[in-house]
Amino acid sequence: MAGQFSGKTALVTGAGSGIGKGVALRLAREGANVAVADINQEGIDAVAKEIAGLGVKSLAIKLDISKVEEIRSVVGKVVGEFGGINIFVNTAGIVQSKKLVDVTEAEWDRLIDINQKGTAFADQIVGAQMIAQIPESEKERIKAAGYADKSWGKIVNFASVSGRRGREYQLCYSASKFAVISITQSAALAFAPWNINVNGIAPSVVETPMWAENNKEKEKAFGIDAKKASDEFIARIPLKRPGTVEDMAGAVAFLCSKDADYITGQTLNVCGGFEMD
Ligand SMILES: NC(=O)c1ccc[n+]([C@@H]2O[C@H](COP(=O)([O-])OP(=O)(O)OC[C@H]3O[C@@H](n4cnc5c(N)ncnc54)[C@H](O)[C@@H]3O)[C@@H](O)[C@H]2O)c1
Repeated sequence: MAGQFSGKTALVTGAGSGIGKGVALRLAREGANVAVADINQEGIDAVAKEIAGLGVKSLAIKLDISKVEEIRSVVGKVVGEFGGINIFVNTAGIVQSKKLVDVTEAEWDRLIDINQKGTAFADQIVGAQMIAQIPESEKERIKAAGYADKSWGKIVNFASVSGRRGREYQLCYSASKFAVISITQSAALAFAPWNINVNGIAPSVVETPMWAENNKEKEKAFGIDAKKASDEFIARIPLKRPGTVEDMAGAVAFLCSKDADYITGQTLNVCGGFEMD
């Protein structure tokens, strides 16, 4: 299929639903072969089928991103099937909204393992793979020049506006998303010599299963009606509407495009103006 990502291979985690699914379909519509990974096997099987219907190749692989060996195995399978990875979008994640005083150690460990450790090691493993794919002759040329004159890979992590400031009801989630912003910067610096661009996206509200879960948890912990909790948050967004999966996928497509070759280490607020720093 013709398109700006034609001939490229993308790996999208968390692609079994919500934003990850929308991102995977957008990259496929723009010509990429797309591997989708998620803990939700049924979800990725359906998305992979939809992608194949667009005339590009797809592959569904089950992944628990909190397990580093599983990340390594998924990357190995994608490389075995497609020969390499050019675009990596990491949307896999979970949310927790709960009174700070009620958070347990086990809940902290689980959320940090998925959102923070998962992002760190996925970036590490995919980044190493992207470097390994650069032909030796190009590596020599890059070393001689002192810089890479083109991008050799694109990585996009999903942070959140909750990674911009703390929330009294999101002790673990907010901490994990601050960490995603820092991991994005560290990986961008580490992979900069090869011009592998690493950026992040910080959404405010996107009406996916996660947003519904977030509001249900708020209802349980604070007794605020879930719909009211959602409406009140959205009313604080300057553009007065939730973001859509397409809004997120569009930002990802831009960050993975040639137009964004000179952008790295940035986390873009795609949030209707909710955060401006
Ligand atoms: N929806 C929002 O309002 C919103 C706002 C800010 C940030 N985000 C971030 O965007 C990303 C995508 O969220 P979404 O709204 O699409 O949520 P979602 O719940 O629809 O999708 C998240 C996906 O991650 C998968 N997942 C969960 N645990 C996993 C694990 N251990 N290993 C692999 N996959 C796992 C789920 O199965 C699911 O398919 C998340 O990182 C989230 O924190 C979302």
